Formats: sequence, C-alpha cells, structure tokens
Amino acid sequence: CGIVGYTGKRSAMPVLISGLKKLEYRGYDSAGVALSSDSGILIRKQSGKVAGLADQVEGEKELLSQSHSGIAHTRWATHGPPTTLNAHPHEGNDGRVVLVHNGIIENHNALRDRFKAAGHTFKSETDSEVLAHLVEANYEGDLFEAVKKSLKEVEGTYGVTCMSKDEPGVLVVARSGSPIVIGLGEDETIVASDASAIITYTRQAIYLDDNDIARIEGSKVDIQSLDSGAVTRTPSEIDWSPDAAEKGGYEHYMLKEVFEQPEAIKNTIRGRIDLNRGTAILSGLNLTPREIVDIQRLLIVGCGTSMNAGLIGEYAVEDFAAIPAEVEQAAEFRYRNPIVGSRDMVLAISQSGETADTLAAVREAVDKGSLVAALVNVVGSTIARETGRGIYLHAGPEISVASTKAFTSQVSVLLMIALKIARSHRLSREDGIQIAKEIERIPELVQEVLDINDQIAEVAAHYANYDNAFYIGRGYMFPVALEGALKLKEISYIHAEGYHSAELKHGPIALLEESMPVIALLNQGPGQDKSLSNVAECKARKAPVLGVITAGDEEARKTCDHVIEIPACPQYTAVVPAAVALQLFAYHVARIRGCAIDQPRNLAKSVTVE
Ligand code: G6P
Repeated sequence: CGIVGYTGKRSAMPVLISGLKKLEYRGYDSAGVALSSDSGILIRKQSGKVAGLADQVEGEKELLSQSHSGIAHTRWATHGPPTTLNAHPHEGNDGRVVLVHNGIIENHNALRDRFKAAGHTFKSETDSEVLAHLVEANYEGDLFEAVKKSLKEVEGTYGVTCMSKDEPGVLVVARSGSPIVIGLGEDETIVASDASAIITYTRQAIYLDDNDIARIEGSKVDIQSLDSGAVTRTPSEIDWSPDAAEKGGYEHYMLKEVFEQPEAIKNTIRGRIDLNRGTAILSGLNLTPREIVDIQRLLIVGCGTSMNAGLIGEYAVEDFAAIPAEVEQAAEFRYRNPIVGSRDMVLAISQSGETADTLAAVREAVDKGSLVAALVNVVGSTIARETGRGIYLHAGPEISVASTKAFTSQVSVLLMIALKIARSHRLSREDGIQIAKEIERIPELVQEVLDINDQIAEVAAHYANYDNAFYIGRGYMFPVALEGALKLKEISYIHAEGYHSAELKHGPIALLEESMPVIALLNQGPGQDKSLSNVAECKARKAPVLGVITAGDEEARKTCDHVIEIPACPQYTAVVPAAVALQLFAYHVARIRGCAIDQPRNLAKSVTVE
C-alpha cells in the first residue's frame, strides 16, 4: 500500500493526490485522503482507483484546497475486502485521531475486543482502524506521545502517519518493518512510504529506521527511537529518476520483487505457524482437523508459474501427509470432465485470482460438488470470492509480468497446507515442529541468495548468448527446473525446457552439444548421486553445465562448469532459494540481452480469456 503526508505552506490536497498517483503501482483497490481544516478533519475515500478519488475531491475543491496539512493512502487489501469503509484514512472513536497505516497489527483482535468492551464502535474490518482507536485512547493533548505509547502496545509491523484534529499542521510518522521516507522541503515536509511520491518536491530525504518515530510540523522534524530517545538521522540525496523511484531504485519491477521476497514470505507466514504444536494455522481454509482427516485426495489446479508452485505442493502433501495429491493444468481440468470425489479437495492457485482457465476449473469443481479452496494473492479477486474459502498470500502487489514473489509465497503456503494436513493424519508433533522451524527459515535462505546477486550476474554473462537451454532436476527440484525454464523463456526469449534429470537420456539428450547449456539443480538430497551422473552424461556431450548446488558441496562443484551455491537445508525448503537463484539468473540473462523485462512481448500479467 502507499502512504503520503504533507505539512507546509502549499495547499495539501494536490500534493497528496499527485503522490497517490505515483504510488498507485503499490495498490489500487481503494484510496483516501484526510485534510485538517478549521472545522475538524475532512476525510474523503472510496473504493477503486486514485483517479476516482481525484474526481471526488476536485468537486469540492474550494473547501478542500484550503488545508495545508493532510495524509493519504492507496490500499492493496490484506485484511477485509477493498470497500470504501475499509479504505484508509481511519479514525478513532470520536474522530480526534486519524491515520493511514501499512503493515499488519497482529494483536488487533485483542485490542478490538478491549475497545468494544469500552463502548467503541468500529466502522471497518481493518487492523489499521484498531490502531487509530488505540492512539486516540492514549491521546492526552500530545499526538507524538500518544503514538509513542500506542506503538509500545502493538505487535506486528507498521509504517504509519497520524494527525489529530487538535494539532493541525502536525504529522506523526513511525516505522517498524514498513518503510517511511521523510522528504525535506523548504517550509514544508512530504512523507511517503516510498520516495517516488516525494521527488517532485524535494530530493533531500530521511529514511526512518525501524522503531523510529517523528513529529513533523512544517519543515521542523524531530525524530526519536522508541528504544533510545532522541536520535539524529542524516538526510540523503535521492538520485533516482522518477521512473526508477517507483521501482524503489531498482531498474525493473521484477528485480524489486525478487528482492522483496524475504519480506513477502515473512508476511505470508506471519501468524500462520504454531511452533508449539508443530502445525500451521490456516483459518481461511475453514476446516476442522476432523474435516481435514476426511480429505482423501488433493487436486491442485493452476496455470503457468502458479501451476509450477502446485507441483511442489503435490510433493510436499504426499511427502508429509501421505495422502495422494495431483496437479492438473486448470484448462485441462475443466474440459476433460475430471473425476472429483466427494472427499477430494480442489485447491486453485492463482496470483491474480482472475485467470480465466483457473476460474473455469474452480466453477467446474464447484458444480461437481467438491470442496474448493483458493490460494490467491489479490484480495477480493473473482477466484477468492467464488471459492469463499482459501488463503491469501499477502505477498504485496506483483507488477512484473514474470511472477517471482507470488511463486515463493505460494510455495510457502503449500508447505504450510501440507504440514497442516499431515498433522491431522500421522505426523508427530516433534516432526511437525521440525518442519515448522524449517518453513520459518525460508526468508533467511532467500536472503542468502540475494546476497550473492553479483556472483549470479557474473555467471549469467556466460549463458546469455545461447539460443536454447535445458533445466533439469529430480524430486522436489523437478518443478523448480520447470519454473526456472519458464522464467528464462518468458523474459529472455531463449528457448528453454524443463526436464526431469533422468528423462533427459530418453530423448532430449539427442540435442546436447556445445551450444546447448544445461542448468542442473543439484542440491544435496536423495538421488543426488544419480543427478551427478546425469550431469556427467551432459558433459560427455560437451554441453556447458551450470549447477545450482548446496554451499560447500565440492563434488557437485567439480562436476559443473559454473555453480550457484544455495544454503544447506531440506529439499522441501531448498526449492525456494533455488528458484530465487534461477529468477536472478534469468533476470541477468534478459538484461544482458536487452529485453523488456517487466513487459515481455506477447505476455499478459493476468490472462482473462480461455
Ligand atoms: C499468465 C502470466 C503468468 C502466470 C499465469 C497464471 O500467463 O503471464 O506469469 O503464472 O498467468 O496467473 P495467475 O494470476 O493465475 O497466477
């Protein structure tokens, strides 16, 4: 989601609206502004795009343009559908405090109950509104102190900007896990969740650290740390172009999204792992353990990258839970009149929640009377609505056509689903705890791969000039080979095929020669010796081999021409860092080839035709 705030000499409204337009790429479900005025704080918000809000405020220009401070937000729904009531800004019980918030307040239910008991009424289903009530309850004439006190009672993440009707011209901003940038102008300050909303006005900016809280009035900025009192944060110069700013300084959305993955996966798994009981909490599935035990088979449907994630889910469900799982291309599922038993669960996977093939499969499964659940990123999307039960990824908006963070979030959820089903069956608490711990390590594993991005770029340079490539893997790494090949063909236009390592010798090996590189997924695990033999077969045909190997695996290193090392971990989580390594590999190859990475030819982010 996007946050903008303004305090200074100008009319605040145009600054806020133009800022929201710059941030719209981060979310476009609903938007709103709050402006301080003589008669209190004026709030205008609506569902839909920023343009709709801009028209609404334009109609009241005379009134609204008199204000010199305000806050604004464009939302990408996480908790609660994208309605006007759920749109930000949110106010407390008596409208004294108004705020916009990014992130998740984890203890919102407990806080909401507390305020309900005290007679407060809530207008929305959001965790952010609860925060507004909390700040208001702590308000004793000093907004800064009220926010400070409140944030100490909050668990979760936030980037927040608050105002009070009693202190016009004052903004209080704070960050923990969700970015806030303070743009320093002459006689004015613009705050935002990222620099793109600021650089039209100033290039001097302070990036808040986690646990920082600031009071801002005109050009006066006072920063404290929640832990240690007053702090000095040195301003830095924003040297990006406006276009780059929207991409957070990255050259492409794809790269930005690849780098967002540790955070995206954290958001995906937050609050969903019960380490003590060694299971996952997936309330969106709306199934009791008893109902879960009754599930006899899992049928996973999806397209493209989502289907590849589903394949990893199939392995994990059979591996952990010992119930059969199958993946079917969504389009195939619908037209071949599938057999779906009354005790089967159909799981539809879709980043957008709008893919026509997947939607058609969902409708077919519903008509067949089966239990249907969805794994979707976009809240309120058609598939999410039509299934009524499911799990949101919370990966944040994915702009790049080539899917990256949605994939790794999907895999993380699928591992949690497998764990949950397994625990309802035979998996022991101890083994469950072990798996749960490994799932929690995923963001860290991904970070380790991002840290060697430069090395991956160097390796990619050796492979950028071929016309074809094979990706091979076995076990959990077989779907990763498919996904790696898909990434490369989508963005670099190199013809790439994903194959099972063992299958190569049954046909495709005929194509191997010096000009046909093989990218081999070789991390340590069952069957690795066989995979190394498969690589030797490739090398014997002079094919250049790039191995994705476990860090420190000298034997694998010796077998390959180049390697990318991923951290040691079980196969079922290794799929994630391995996939991230291949995302970066594909990215750098495409960049060297000068391709339109974010908008590859012929592809659409969401395909709504069958
Ligand atoms: C399109 C996109 C792919 C995506 C597929 C499924 O083909 O180009 O990147 O994997 O649709 O999209 P979904 O939104 O259903 O996950």
